[in-house]
Amino acid sequence: ESWDMGGHDTYMHKEIFEQAEAVDRVLRGRIDDRFSTVHLGGLNLDAREARGVRRIKILGCGTSYHAGQIGAQLIEELARIPADAEPASEFRYRNPVVDPDTLYIAVSQSGETYDVLAAVQELKRKGARVLGVVNVVGSAIAREADGGLYVHAGPEVCVVSTKCFTNTVVAFGLLALHLGRTRDLSVADGKRIIAGLRKLPEQIADILSREDEIEKLAEEFTEARSMLFIGRVRGYPVAREASLKLKEVSYIHAEAYPASELKHGPLALIEPAMPTVAIVPDDDLLEKNRAALEEIKAREGKILAVAHREQEKADHTIVVPKNEDELDPILMGIPLQLLAYHTALKLGRDIDKPRNLAKSVTVE
Ligand code: G6P
Repeated sequence: ESWDMGGHDTYMHKEIFEQAEAVDRVLRGRIDDRFSTVHLGGLNLDAREARGVRRIKILGCGTSYHAGQIGAQLIEELARIPADAEPASEFRYRNPVVDPDTLYIAVSQSGETYDVLAAVQELKRKGARVLGVVNVVGSAIAREADGGLYVHAGPEVCVVSTKCFTNTVVAFGLLALHLGRTRDLSVADGKRIIAGLRKLPEQIADILSREDEIEKLAEEFTEARSMLFIGRVRGYPVAREASLKLKEVSYIHAEAYPASELKHGPLALIEPAMPTVAIVPDDDLLEKNRAALEEIKAREGKILAVAHREQEKADHTIVVPKNEDELDPILMGIPLQLLAYHTALKLGRDIDKPRNLAKSVTVE
């Protein structure tokens, strides 16, 4: 972990390949096998307070907002606390109702993004409790928050976020498990999630070992003018983040849509020149997702699936290892980071510094 390129040509590549190690670090020292829970020392929230939380509102920008969307789903699934994520910039300007029983969570890699910091300050002015899920230790948002949880991704230099996204989602997994175990998440389910979390570093390494396959696939997308990314429920924020990654680094237009909404509009776009990337986990929505692939194939759309087994309707399937259903989103976006990277590389883009973007936006 350093600013050294360590033999990689770009920081993006280096940071993608640091993910197994980074996830190991966010887990380290936090798992409590005896009680099937996790210790999060900096949270500043005792069990009684945790039980008093009625809602959770997660705020962030860009990739951190997408990580927060997966985080909200993890919290709802494991802790059964209603949760949602919103761009911090939108939240600030709509004079939101600040509710004393809601726990607010600010998500930021840098801990310095102005819109997030301003949202935190506004919330604190109104007496809300705000936690930070932040990467940079001692940053403005970390200092301003009442407590929180560091993401421990290590320094991220590439403007486009990869390893910090993954670690942030894992950090939300820990938080969701912790909150769940103060509520109705059983010991058995706690154990199941812990075992799933522990499998992640090895599964990430497995995905990354298939770089050659993904590099070849990228060749097929360099000609695309626009791409569609689809997923349902757990797969939808994965599709959104993958679409953002491709846009940022390759400048190919991409749009993410819930697969369930295809028929309400995007189906009109499907033709051979409009490729679709579909997130197809082996969960209770598998058949629904397959039906969406059929709809696309019937209109001669080209499909790349990220799935737990080969998808017959897809032109190509990137098969990723299965984890617990709740944790699958952590893994399913990783091959698509590599796809965005290799597509951009083939197009000769400035990978670490995409045009018009900054690593951290510290002004309005
Ligand atoms: C900028 C970066 C994005 C990042 C966003 C939020 O737009 O280009 O990659 O996701 O800021 O940054 P943060 O440091 O708050 O996570």
